[in-house]
Amino acid sequence: MSFPPEPRGLLLLLVVWTASQLCPPSAADPAASPRIIITSSSLGEKRFLFGPPESHIVLYHEQGTPSVFVGAESKLYYHNFDNSTDYEVPFKTTRKPSNCKNDDDKNYLTLLEKYQEKLLICGTNACNPTCWNWVHGKKEIFMHAQGLAPFGLDPNALVLVDGDDIYSTIKKHQYNGKNPRFRRILGSTELYTTDMMMKNPQFVKAAMVKQDKPYNAKIYLFFREDNPDSSRNPVASKSISRVAQLCKGDKGGSGSLSASKWTTFLKATLLCVDGDRHFNHLQDVFIVESPVWSQTKIYGLFSNEWEYSAVCVYSVGAISEVFRTSPLKGYTGEPPAVRPGQCLEGDQRTPHETFQLADSYPEVLNRVQEKAIFSNKHHYQQIEIHQVEAGDGVTYNVLYLATDRGTIHKVVVLPTGAINVLEIQPFQSSAVIQSVILDTARKELFVASLSEVVQLPLAMCGAYKNTCGSCVLARDPYCGWTGGRCDSVYDHKQHGNRTLLQALTHDNSSDICSSSSNNTKEDGTGLHMNVTVPQQSRYYLNCTVESHHANYTWFHNNRAILHCRPGHRHCIYFIDNMTDDLYGTYSCIAKEDWFTQTLVTENLVKPFSKTIAFRDKLDKDTATTTSLSFWLGLLHMLAVVLVIQ
Ligand SMILES: *[C@@H]1O[C@H](CO)[C@@H](O)[C@H](O)[C@H]1NC(C)=O
Ligand SMILES: *[C@@H]1O[C@H](CO)[C@@H](O)[C@H](O)[C@H]1NC(C)=O
Ligand SMILES: *[C@@H]1O[C@H](CO)[C@@H](O)[C@H](O)[C@H]1NC(C)=O
Ligand SMILES: *[C@@H]1O[C@H](CO)[C@@H](O)[C@H](O)[C@H]1NC(C)=O
Ligand SMILES: *[C@@H]1O[C@H](CO)[C@@H](O)[C@H](O)[C@H]1NC(C)=O
Ligand SMILES: *[C@@H]1O[C@H](CO)[C@@H](O)[C@H](O)[C@H]1NC(C)=O
Ligand SMILES: *[C@@H]1O[C@H](CO)[C@@H](O)[C@H](O)[C@H]1NC(C)=O
Ligand SMILES: *[C@@H]1O[C@H](CO)[C@@H](O)[C@H](O)[C@H]1NC(C)=O
Repeated sequence: MSFPPEPRGLLLLLVVWTASQLCPPSAADPAASPRIIITSSSLGEKRFLFGPPESHIVLYHEQGTPSVFVGAESKLYYHNFDNSTDYEVPFKTTRKPSNCKNDDDKNYLTLLEKYQEKLLICGTNACNPTCWNWVHGKKEIFMHAQGLAPFGLDPNALVLVDGDDIYSTIKKHQYNGKNPRFRRILGSTELYTTDMMMKNPQFVKAAMVKQDKPYNAKIYLFFREDNPDSSRNPVASKSISRVAQLCKGDKGGSGSLSASKWTTFLKATLLCVDGDRHFNHLQDVFIVESPVWSQTKIYGLFSNEWEYSAVCVYSVGAISEVFRTSPLKGYTGEPPAVRPGQCLEGDQRTPHETFQLADSYPEVLNRVQEKAIFSNKHHYQQIEIHQVEAGDGVTYNVLYLATDRGTIHKVVVLPTGAINVLEIQPFQSSAVIQSVILDTARKELFVASLSEVVQLPLAMCGAYKNTCGSCVLARDPYCGWTGGRCDSVYDHKQHGNRTLLQALTHDNSSDICSSSSNNTKEDGTGLHMNVTVPQQSRYYLNCTVESHHANYTWFHNNRAILHCRPGHRHCIYFIDNMTDDLYGTYSCIAKEDWFTQTLVTENLVKPFSKTIAFRDKLDKDTATTTSLSFWLGLLHMLAVVLVIQ
């Protein structure tokens, strides 16, 4: 074989370097990286494509319905995933010439919400915020648009609809002050936060949370703001995350100065800690309600300065306790009869002295802090939680985390810790995730990019190979092995009481699949082939990595020759120069907990004659030339993969 000399030296160097790099050191916690990586295709997903990509979208989906509404620039899309009907309605700018200084005379739809049994649609309408009710396929002008839509696209715009009340962080007038406010704009008395309460806030979420008594119902407002300590302490982060509580029944203060101000606002630092790492940049919040008010859980998704992520869970009981018992930061005097943050029954207004104290010292001293239940090096942007009842009747919490790379991680919280079981790439081509909505009634996830909305079933058991080991090791509470296939708990429930094999809680001991009468033959065998390899040629053995949490080992005549630890993307063994002692049987064996599987067996044999064959098929000339370019391509690919890792 003749290779040009220069690339050959380089090639060998690369081979040596690559071979030594093929098994990168495993991450501190392999369970935090996705075990299986898939692109969704034939997993029961359905797609709705917009046609040309949009520049901006807002997604609306009502729980339990088959449809989505998408607000875009100057138009509204509707799509029904059950019967694939859709329509598109123009929402053109109605006012010309525009009010805008910056020529942005578009009508970006920014809000779609159910309000008083109608779909409320609001848009920027060329700096002239306008709302419509969408009734029986017709637009009706809605009179109170102030504060419901911003004057231009604004990432800090948050709207909370609660019965007849609407709360908003959107400016009512184009030239209002710079410091954003949280207002009640419709329903009960109009109220706003004072400039003392928040410094340059960036809002994350607002939610209504019930408490023991109706008059005690609270609004929790989650935001980041300028850290007052960062001027004194140069290592302190510039911004800090907060949870604020306000009484839903706040009627303003008793004095004329405080009559239209929130008088029950108090805020606390919200922190998520993983070992000695602090995560103080709140990214998203998801609330899981409980019939017992104090057990309602608030899931906070945080990132740190390295853009690593962590998830913490806070109970409403604990947050409420902090606000009820903590002293006010900076205040040492006696508290007034009506404590700051206290909700009052009936028509009572907050006494002026209570308001003044809370307005001067809006922060409580104690922090709301928890230990992370999950953390890793990915940068997540959105979190949704689903509670699923597994085959054993136990309910598990599953986190759906949207990454900044357009994928979703499914993380199962088990008593032994959280496991990242799956990475899904939901879109046809890689795209940024704009919005994720989880439908607990339909058990589906609606994921939107600027080009499409995808409806994904939460139980995607097709992601796992149809073998008992693959299905059970997935640790996916939605899936279990039954009747010779990997079935979803939802389908299974309809099939009566056949046992569903799952191994969610016992991650030790024996192979539960071996006891299954319906274990398929694929477990334990796998691909088997004979390959003729010429002497002095190069060859590589490729083992398909299914689980990124498993150990893969290549054996040559039963002697281990390459060990690939969890976290690798490939487990490839290179033979640089085929010599007599290198012929024989090579097998790749995957090992994960109790499960062992032979994935590939290749029997490398010498050619019968002098005829040189490459992988049995190619004649000498093509073998030589093909193999050089092939090897360069392969090395390039591996180098790229390694750089990405
Ligand atoms: C599709 O479903 C929607 C709502 O369920 C219904 O209004 C519509 O008529 C259906 N369209 C077709 C073509 O069946
Ligand atoms: C085994 O699988 C077959 C189909 O593959 C099914 O008909 C049978 O009921 C299964 N038996 C058990 C015990 O699950
Ligand atoms: C399944 O078992 C439960 C109790 O173990 C029983 O109540 C139920 O009727 C059974 N369902 C079917 C379809 O056999
Ligand atoms: C494995 O877990 C089960 C229960 O989950 C326990 O009963 C058993 O003792 C454990 N076995 C070992 C070897 O740790
Ligand atoms: C490989 O070769 C052996 C003997 O040379 C033969 O028995 C076996 O069937 C072959 N296997 C395959 C998969 O072709
Ligand atoms: C491969 O090994 C043989 C025997 O050790 C040696 O003669 C030959 O030069 C080597 N070939 C290459 C390409 O390194
Ligand atoms: C190894 O096999 C997998 C799966 O068949 C394939 O995707 C990958 O490209 C192969 N790698 C190489 C270097 O051939
Ligand atoms: C992989 O191998 C390492 C070292 O042999 C071992 O510590 C680890 O537990 C193994 N992991 C799995 C999932 O079997």
